[in-house]
Amino acid sequence: MTRIAVFNQKGGVGKTSTVLNLAAAIYRQGQRSLIIDMDPQGHLTEVHPNPPVAASQSLFGFYQENKPLASLAIDWEGMGKLICSHKELIKVDSIFGRGPAILNRLKHGLEAWDKTADTGNTLIDCCPYLGVLSLSAIFATDFVIIPIASDYLSLQGAQKVEHTLKALEPVLKKRIERRYLMTCYDRRRGMTFEVHEQALANFGNDVLQTVISENVAVAESPQHKQNVFQYSANSTGARDYQALLDELLESGLLPLQRKTQAAQAADINS
Ligand SMILES: Nc1ncnc2c1ncn2[C@@H]1O[C@H](COP(=O)(O)OP(=O)(O)OP(=O)(O)O)[C@@H](O)[C@H]1O
Ligand SMILES: [Mg+2]
Repeated sequence: MTRIAVFNQKGGVGKTSTVLNLAAAIYRQGQRSLIIDMDPQGHLTEVHPNPPVAASQSLFGFYQENKPLASLAIDWEGMGKLICSHKELIKVDSIFGRGPAILNRLKHGLEAWDKTADTGNTLIDCCPYLGVLSLSAIFATDFVIIPIASDYLSLQGAQKVEHTLKALEPVLKKRIERRYLMTCYDRRRGMTFEVHEQALANFGNDVLQTVISENVAVAESPQHKQNVFQYSANSTGARDYQALLDELLESGLLPLQRKTQAAQAADINS
């Protein structure tokens, strides 16, 4: 069971789209994921057809009332389970400070989740700034995906993440695995290739080979409360997110067992 945080200290780079569509690709492979919306903006939560309204039924209930994660997770068709965000989450920094207890709370919550839950991997959609929520996600995960929306400001955000991760490694006493993912990749723009080359120069082998093209189905699907596979299974966006999953599987970063089609159908229908 692998835990992945999707983070960049820059907004609008494709974090939410990547969590949504990577979890959907994993589901098509035959495994439900736990998806956690850790962004007080709640964009991922808005894709769910029927999210709870009360803050206590969101991740805020875990922080404020010590509710177990299992009591907050709701079913999400075609994805797995979702723990929703709420705008109250913005208060977590000011209420709890930045001590080790709060920073490790999600990690411990997920350890308890893993003992009882029937989901496989956990994917966390982070907010676009470094605070208690994003740090907690990094503390809790096995690796971080950093989307870069093929422009210079996204690249700068990614460089900030690299510095943050390097600073955290001595604290956590381990290398924090990370992979940089080019998103909103538009081959008609010279800047796309310049930013890609710069990313390769800065982050080397940590840049994923898969790129996520600028694609209308990726942009439109959330408004229909769908992931890209449900919205347009033959789109470039669906193909790219499948390629992302394939690369993560082949590199061993995501040790998901490939299943036969029959096994997948049995799993998904159970
Ligand atoms: N590959 C893509 N092709 C076209 N549009 C995209 C693509 N990826 C993301 N978008 C669009 O770009 C916008 C930002 O994407 P997204 O919400 O995934 O980014 P984010 O990093 O989560 O943003 P925030 O920091 O605000 O949470 C959205 O409107 C989304 O639909
Ligand atoms: Mg987002």
